[in-house]
Amino acid sequence: MYRVEKLVDHSQAAVEKAVSTLLSALQTESAAVSNDAEYKVFRDRWLARSNGILTQLNDLWLKASPKDAKRIVGQAVNTVRSNVEREVTVECRARLDSGNAQSPLEASRVDVTLPGIRRPLGAEHLVIRTMNDIVSVFRDMGYSVGEGPEVETDYYNFESLNFPPDHPARDTQDTIFIAGQQSRPQRDRLLLRTHTSPVQIRTMEKQAPPVRIVIPGKVHRHDTPDATHSPVFHQVEGLAVDEGITFCDLKGTLDHAMKAFFGPKVRTKFQPSFFPFTEPSAEVYVSCIFCGGKGCRICKQSGWIELLGSGMVDPALYGFVGYDPEKVSGFAFGMGVERFAMLMYGLDDIQQFYLGDVRFLEQFA
Ligand code: DAH
Repeated sequence: MYRVEKLVDHSQAAVEKAVSTLLSALQTESAAVSNDAEYKVFRDRWLARSNGILTQLNDLWLKASPKDAKRIVGQAVNTVRSNVEREVTVECRARLDSGNAQSPLEASRVDVTLPGIRRPLGAEHLVIRTMNDIVSVFRDMGYSVGEGPEVETDYYNFESLNFPPDHPARDTQDTIFIAGQQSRPQRDRLLLRTHTSPVQIRTMEKQAPPVRIVIPGKVHRHDTPDATHSPVFHQVEGLAVDEGITFCDLKGTLDHAMKAFFGPKVRTKFQPSFFPFTEPSAEVYVSCIFCGGKGCRICKQSGWIELLGSGMVDPALYGFVGYDPEKVSGFAFGMGVERFAMLMYGLDDIQQFYLGDVRFLEQFA
């Protein structure tokens, strides 16, 4: 077994010889290590701070050498140190680990008697499914699909849709405003969009006519949650602008869409209404999908269910987006997704959509 001897001869040749004796001893001892216990002994023998071989070299070689030999001996000790450290901490360790490792065949062995891992399938949320169903009815008619931001400016949510500042129609929108906006001009103040209609303007700003687009998205209103209200809900907006579009196109499109969605027996009815951004405006009713129009508890004996807002785009809007109102005309509509889903699936409490109860969602999977 190797032992550190004091150097007698400090010539370059003699020092090199001592180094090579040491390094070959290192190799021999390293190669003999065959398990963890032996490795620990080997490591301590060479690296231990108190009396390891490296420490001994410092004392017996370096400190004990005469001044004029320090440079040669110092370099030798440095070479030895880096060799020893690499051999002990890297090479020997790696040899040991790879010898211990399982063969690839063993490592890939599977115990087929172990119980499997269950990965329960989720269910598509009814709101998302309904939204997609509505969108695809219009996509089939050649509409494209767009989106817009939920945090909107006063300009897009109101002003450009023909709600002047202080107009009472703003009150019907139960707006949630972002705090700390008072120093900005009113048109730049931020709010949570109360409807998807601002994306009508955003679309027309970006795109020349003709436009046919549906816009699904989340909207926010300052409402107390109850069986039919939620402060966060979803809408699908629609917009068609082209040359020569008339109210007949609006009626035909929405009548077709409701039949595609609820079935061919359903009838539609248009009743005058008011929205600042459409003129004329109409509330769209469908014949009650539960009683077929005879009258029941759900349609409150009227035979009709109110479902959509719609109308011919007010020409004032074209002024905001640089369209020529003498040339183009169009219609727009907006509908609440939750309301559609509740009718479609016979639900009586909107809150069930937001509870996140998988048992509720699984019923419809
Ligand atoms: N934005 C309206 C609302 O949330 C719904 C609506 C009505 C949208 C008529 C329209 C429309 O595009 O033409 O109350």
